[in-house]
Amino acid sequence: MLKVIDLTRVYGQGAAAHLAIDNASFTVAEGELVTIVGPSGCGKSTLLRCIAGLMTPTSGQVVLNGNLVTQVPDRLAVVFQDYSRSLFPWLTVRENVALPLRRTQRKRHARNQAAESALAAVGLTDAAPRYPWQLSGGMQQRVAIARALACEPVLLLMDEPFGSVDAQTREDLEDLLLLMRAERGITTLLVTHDIDESVYTGDRVIVLTSTPGRIRAEITVDLPQPRDQISTKELRAFSHLRAEVSRLVRGQPAAPASQRADEHGSFGPSARPEPSGIVSPTPTPTPPSGAPSRTCSPPSPRPGQRPRA
Ligand SMILES: Nc1ncnc2c1ncn2[C@@H]1O[C@H](COP(=O)(O)OP(=O)(O)OP(=O)(O)O)[C@@H](O)[C@H]1O
Ligand SMILES: [Mg+2]
Repeated sequence: MLKVIDLTRVYGQGAAAHLAIDNASFTVAEGELVTIVGPSGCGKSTLLRCIAGLMTPTSGQVVLNGNLVTQVPDRLAVVFQDYSRSLFPWLTVRENVALPLRRTQRKRHARNQAAESALAAVGLTDAAPRYPWQLSGGMQQRVAIARALACEPVLLLMDEPFGSVDAQTREDLEDLLLLMRAERGITTLLVTHDIDESVYTGDRVIVLTSTPGRIRAEITVDLPQPRDQISTKELRAFSHLRAEVSRLVRGQPAAPASQRADEHGSFGPSARPEPSGIVSPTPTPTPPSGAPSRTCSPPSPRPGQRPRA
């Protein structure tokens, strides 16, 4: 459903030019939750902004459901890290959630109903008449997630969405995301600094190199669903995937295939015919032209892997 094809983004020109993302290609299947990790400043947000249509790639293409992305697509939602700057303090929680729906054809009553329903999904029914500044950080980030859900997005992009909350709240929000995904099947791309989070929430982890960001590896996360903060993280396979991602983020060589196969004991050879998580390079199909228009974005304020670059 999402194809990123040879995407490159350069900031500035001439001697001051900075290559932020270099030739990134990958696909995300419908309903998949893919996480993106990489060192700070490697271009994760740049990549996400290009996918969201908020920024034009210098070269390459983003294709969503067969349409070339040239502006923010229909029913695409973005959740940013900084909830304090993404919610309007002078609007109630209900109004904040309903705000992006004003771009749709829906009448006010229907918009408010959609907002109430999204707030109920994140456990914030009672907070609807309150103002964002009357809520805790975790609650405010739930409001931001509710606002994204209210649009019934086909693609949800999240940039460090849980980076500003405490550890316990972060785990709760990760579980909320997994629950929403299970219930609604929303295709999701989650950028995170947190390697545990990338493995715990992801069906697949894309690892970027340090700047310029290139795709270093794609790792399939073959952990059982539904995931659980305690029992999933106790699995040997979880710790090995986490170590693998950590090595890649730090630019260290991957563990030898033989060692990985042994260590991943819970994955039998049939489940892991190749060294874990191997993903072949993304093909580069020719996208059809034409781009959708309406947006739901917030108002602007198999185990193993093969290195790919
Ligand atoms: N508007 C801009 N003009 C010039 N350079 C920029 C601009 N925005 C980002 N950059 C540079 O591009 C690179 C990638 O930035 P980006 O914000 O995408 O990284 P990131 O991986 O999201 O970082 P972090 O993990 O810290 O959020 C960085 O070197 C950054 O300094
Ligand atoms: Mg960033």
